[in-house]
Amino acid sequence: MPQRPYIVGNWKMHGTRAMLSEARAIDRAAQRHMKVEVAIAPPYTLIHPVHREAKQIAVGAQDCHHEDGGAHTGDISAAMIADAGGKFVILGHSERRQNHGESDELVRRKAEAALKAGLRVILCCGESEEIREAGKATEFVTGQLKASLPEFDEGDEAIFEKLTVAYEPIWAIGTGKTATTEDIAEMHGEIRKLLVSLYGEEQGREIRILYGGSVKPENAADILSTPEVGGALVGGASLTADSFMGIALAAAESEEA
Ligand code: PGA
Repeated sequence: MPQRPYIVGNWKMHGTRAMLSEARAIDRAAQRHMKVEVAIAPPYTLIHPVHREAKQIAVGAQDCHHEDGGAHTGDISAAMIADAGGKFVILGHSERRQNHGESDELVRRKAEAALKAGLRVILCCGESEEIREAGKATEFVTGQLKASLPEFDEGDEAIFEKLTVAYEPIWAIGTGKTATTEDIAEMHGEIRKLLVSLYGEEQGREIRILYGGSVKPENAADILSTPEVGGALVGGASLTADSFMGIALAAAESEEA
């Protein structure tokens, strides 16, 4: 079954209640573009307010703890996100890996906790500029992804529908530089090969692969029509309904093309 393009906004540490008007506008616009699956991950503090009002879009979180609960000051568990109305969580974002020292092993445990709590998972991977220049991008990204993927019981088929991978080259995040569509196609192809080798033809192809890194309305059509690109993970351009829905519109048009 062909999947709808998945356009996810990562608001990072942006957003007070004043931004709920943008979330409302995104939700209204998403109701007119049902061929695209639109979701936003605001800061934790806005998950429940967005959930309460949203009719069409899904709301999710940008991280979660790997345990169910306990003495972890300042942390939030996957079950708490689900309780607040969150439907998914972004894990292993390069800003978490860099700023909070998150290892592949920790990201894997978080992904397992999130799936156990019934959340969908968007698992991020991506190389630095130095790694790309050294010609080691593919080896690095597939290695990072393999070590970050959750383990699950054999026969748990529902996992594949719940799992999404996001390829986000670090040098393209928030910089205005995007990878070329050739580079994106090549990396997404390698990621697909890995997923098929791990899970088999059918399940390995069920997992969507998003591209992230300076996606904007102006470049979205090209990126979204690249082979193996199932959607986009959008930072800066997701902060206003106008630019975010410009990307969703490009996704809708690429479906019709
Ligand atoms: P950007 O961020 O769109 O601002 O480059 C993408 C991301 O970090 O997910």
